[in-house]
Amino acid sequence: MIRIRYLTTVFAIGVAAILFSRSAAVSAADDCSTVTALVSACSSFVTYGSPDPIPGSPCCVAMTTLNNLADSGDNRRGVCRCLMDLITVYSSNATAIATLPGFCGVSLGFTIDPNTDCEYIDQYARLEGR
Ligand SMILES: *[C@@H]1O[C@H](CO)[C@@H](O)[C@H](O)[C@H]1NC(C)=O
Repeated sequence: MIRIRYLTTVFAIGVAAILFSRSAAVSAADDCSTVTALVSACSSFVTYGSPDPIPGSPCCVAMTTLNNLADSGDNRRGVCRCLMDLITVYSSNATAIATLPGFCGVSLGFTIDPNTDCEYIDQYARLEGR
């Protein structure tokens, strides 16, 4: 019962985040609330290391939305900075966050790593042809 309620909450947050991000795609990367809400759809995995996110799950739907937000150099840098904040300011598990896109089959165009310099990610993006 608790688990069902939890999943419902996660799903609701994910849907809210998607709706919000569509109407605020341009500024979303500047204010980290959207990125935070999206990653929070994966909070179970980030906190406990399980279950593995699978494509189609609320967590992966959120990662796809995150990927859509990172649609330009500026937005990619903004998303990157927000993810770094989550890792450094909130001590989120960087390893777990870094593996999220891979589990979900999403490529953000940069590596999530505490040492990633968000100001340079366009160079990686160009290498990947994005
Ligand atoms: C971080 O997440 C990884 C992958 O899920 C896990 O193996 C590791 O134990 C976690 N570390 C901490 C400090 O929670």
